[in-house]
Amino acid sequence: MGDPRLWVKARPVEAFDTPELCRLVGDMKETMLDREGVGLAAPQIGESLRVVVFGFDEGALRPEAEGIPYTVLINPVLTPLSDETEEDWEGCLSIPGLCGKAPRYKKLRYAGFGLSGAPLDRIVEGFHARVVQHECDHLDGILYPARIRDFQNFGYREELFPGADT
Ligand code: NI
Repeated sequence: MGDPRLWVKARPVEAFDTPELCRLVGDMKETMLDREGVGLAAPQIGESLRVVVFGFDEGALRPEAEGIPYTVLINPVLTPLSDETEEDWEGCLSIPGLCGKAPRYKKLRYAGFGLSGAPLDRIVEGFHARVVQHECDHLDGILYPARIRDFQNFGYREELFPGADT
């Protein structure tokens, strides 16, 4: 956070399955896994393109949440399926050590394309919906602290959750 590239609206991808796009997605997956994140957006590694990756295995990283299939989502379009929102804790690999409670739509539809250009269309809720909203916000230059309503719910993980190992 502080790098101006994180505040920019990213450009749509125009050509799929190119060596450049494959390399970008590979770098993103590697970064996400290496940092034990559940998602990553291209602007976070300095590439202003509408590409996000997310996913994690059941029982890993977020033991309380169901797993999310590993997904590459390009040029995403998000459609909330109700006005209902819920607040929950989020962190971000661009803001290490901090976490905050951000409101997100509970249920939404997301559509877009995979790496090879195959269309993708899913209806999801809960943590899966939260992760997609967090990652797609990065494509519009929005970091989760901008969503926080009550700044008592924002701080260093070790202060907010003393004794927790994450
Ligand atoms: Ni993030």
